[in-house]
Amino acid sequence: MIRVLIVCLGNICRSPAAEAALRRKAQERGAAIEVCSAGIGGWHQGKGADGRMVRAAAARGYLLDRHRARQVEFSDFYEFDYILAMDGKNLSDLLGMAPANRECDIRLFLEFADTHTRETPDPYYGGAEGFERVLDLVETGADAFLDHIQKTQG
Ligand code: 4NP
Repeated sequence: MIRVLIVCLGNICRSPAAEAALRRKAQERGAAIEVCSAGIGGWHQGKGADGRMVRAAAARGYLLDRHRARQVEFSDFYEFDYILAMDGKNLSDLLGMAPANRECDIRLFLEFADTHTRETPDPYYGGAEGFERVLDLVETGADAFLDHIQKTQG
């Protein structure tokens, strides 16, 4: 079982969507992956996902209504095999807080994807199209990550 933690800033928009997409695609392929998500910041701790993302995700069949935001914890660096960041700032924040003896692989979520960008842009202060773009990117990224896992782990 491979354990994957997906991290964005608030854990209410991008990483809950990426978590749902990766979980569903892993189930469809029969890949043994456990997926969680967390935020660099703790402002939304215990709160549900952003309503705009809940609605946009529901239109693609992803149910985020039970999501509860949580902040990245020190123990995450020991409990997950992969920690996947949604953007470059999330990645540098994670690398800055990661203990030297960690065994997890800390990467960008889109690192394995053939997209023109490796970053999933923060939709929080923008319009509806930003949420659709996040969903497009995380669906592509989830497939690319699973391809990578299946190639490297057999
Ligand atoms: P997320 O979006 O990182 O995709 O969950 C954000 C959510 C909240 C904030 C920023 C980004 N915020 O500043 O509160």
